[in-house]
Amino acid sequence: MITVTRAGKHLGAEISGVDLSQPLDDDTFAQIASAFFDNEVVFFRNQTLTPAQQIAFTRRFGVLEAHVRKESRLADHDEIFVLSNKLDAGGKAIGAQDAGRYWHSDLSYKREPSMLSALYAVEVPIKDGVALGNTYFASSTAAYDALPDAMKQRVDKLRNVHSYREYRLKNYAAQQEDERRGIRTVQEHAPTPEQLASVPDTEMDVVRTHPVTHRKGLFINEGHTAWLTGMSRAESDAELAKLYAHITQPEFVYCHAWRVGDLLMWDNIAVQHKATFDYDPLPRLMYRTTVRGPAVV
Ligand SMILES: [Fe+2]
Repeated sequence: MITVTRAGKHLGAEISGVDLSQPLDDDTFAQIASAFFDNEVVFFRNQTLTPAQQIAFTRRFGVLEAHVRKESRLADHDEIFVLSNKLDAGGKAIGAQDAGRYWHSDLSYKREPSMLSALYAVEVPIKDGVALGNTYFASSTAAYDALPDAMKQRVDKLRNVHSYREYRLKNYAAQQEDERRGIRTVQEHAPTPEQLASVPDTEMDVVRTHPVTHRKGLFINEGHTAWLTGMSRAESDAELAKLYAHITQPEFVYCHAWRVGDLLMWDNIAVQHKATFDYDPLPRLMYRTTVRGPAVV
């Protein structure tokens, strides 16, 4: 029997009483899945997982993605995307260092965006006894519910374009600027023309109904949404800025302070998230698996 303890006002819960390295019976898995969709972000402390065990657990939720950034996949485990500021013997980044600079939902630029992501904490930077590199999660369903009715009716009709190309170019430019200012020490790989061409822009409704919970949420994010359709870029930027400010208000946010052995999963349809980079040069290493979701409309 698992225990679920709420961690944030609208989202986030700790699940205890389960060892994810072991095969789970159907009843236990159903309890975990139910807690996951109810809480949008759930985490398990003190896990000891091999990459194969993380893959086996998350695969029970659906088909796993292999990330478009091949150089950041774990050797021999294409389904694991490495997030790290560590370097290999040749001085190259072993994973994606600055994924998550902006509020975003993983792979939201795809025709079939991610349903959920799971992040396993292998190395957590600690300074003066305090964990660094917290991750913030914002509930876009709670944010939608809190909109005035007139605003709901307005956003219900809006569509937006998610663009991997614009995101990577924006992210890389921001990183180059950091380099110039001496903020970062690790040079991320520049996006290749093949990567930029491999994921076409995707247009979709701003309001998305969750396929499992049937809750409505705002499926826009500052990382991947390029523009709202049917208006000028300036109008779109202004409208998006207001909506982002609404979604990321503290009341809709849960902040996770990591511990080694945490396995944390979030619902990419219901929440968006953002990383913090306050730990360099202390080493951080996380393994991510990502489950494909249904196509957007
Ligand atoms: Fe992410």
